[in-house]
Amino acid sequence: MTQQLWTDVDRYLTDRLVASDPALDTALRTSAEAGLPEINVAPNQGKLLYLLALASGAERILEIGTLGGYSTIWLGRALPPDGKLVTLEADARHAEIARFNIAAAGLADRIEVIVGPALETLPELAARGEPPFDLSFIDADQAPTAEYFAWSLRLSHLGSLIIVDNVVRAGGVADDDNTEPRVLGMRRFFDELAAEERVAATAVQTVGSKGHDGFVLAVVTGGAN
Ligand code: SAH
Ligand code: DHB
Ligand code: MG
Repeated sequence: MTQQLWTDVDRYLTDRLVASDPALDTALRTSAEAGLPEINVAPNQGKLLYLLALASGAERILEIGTLGGYSTIWLGRALPPDGKLVTLEADARHAEIARFNIAAAGLADRIEVIVGPALETLPELAARGEPPFDLSFIDADQAPTAEYFAWSLRLSHLGSLIIVDNVVRAGGVADDDNTEPRVLGMRRFFDELAAEERVAATAVQTVGSKGHDGFVLAVVTGGAN
């Protein structure tokens, strides 16, 4: 199995099942032109996020890690007109490009981009009495994933979904010789997730145009799993 084959299959699937959307295409183009790293979710992964939000009837969504707003727009497309998405981004330039792309997608009325390191903006979000979120998507820096998950859980209600991107990183998570901070952070997250009785969770590894990676899907059960 090679990266070329994974990319070819992703193209095959995406050509058939993921209709092109001018606003999403524009978001990728303006992000690339601005020199942002191309670490957005793939189109078929974006559609998976959209479908999870749609299937769960999410009206309030939290995202940690906005980049140019590509996954944000996918998730935002699933919201009803009075829904809300709050997305947290540390880099002011990324946030500026995301705001432009979100406005071009016609979603500025229901998406709020908050600039700052998430470990600072999450407590502010909690302190301002934000109602709980129905779905959280964690896709920022990986070392503090355990903390991001804890905050997402705190900002959730029974039945909320929490999705975590990049939990496999080409197998690094299962390679004992790999001691990169982000890999150690992900292992710490898995240890805490395994011990967390308030959620039911699984993880699935993926291959595709973005390489070999994976995601965690957790449902807040409150202990009744
Ligand atoms: N969700 C996006 C991709 C996000 S890439 C998509 O799929 O389209 C990760 C983003 O997290 C980057 O924009 C990076 O600047 C941001 N980030 C990194 N560290 C962060 C932190 N501590 N707090 C908030 N955002 C952070
Ligand atoms: C990287 C970050 C991501 O969120 C992702 O989906 C892929 C790669 C990175 O930092 O390399
Ligand atoms: Mg990611």
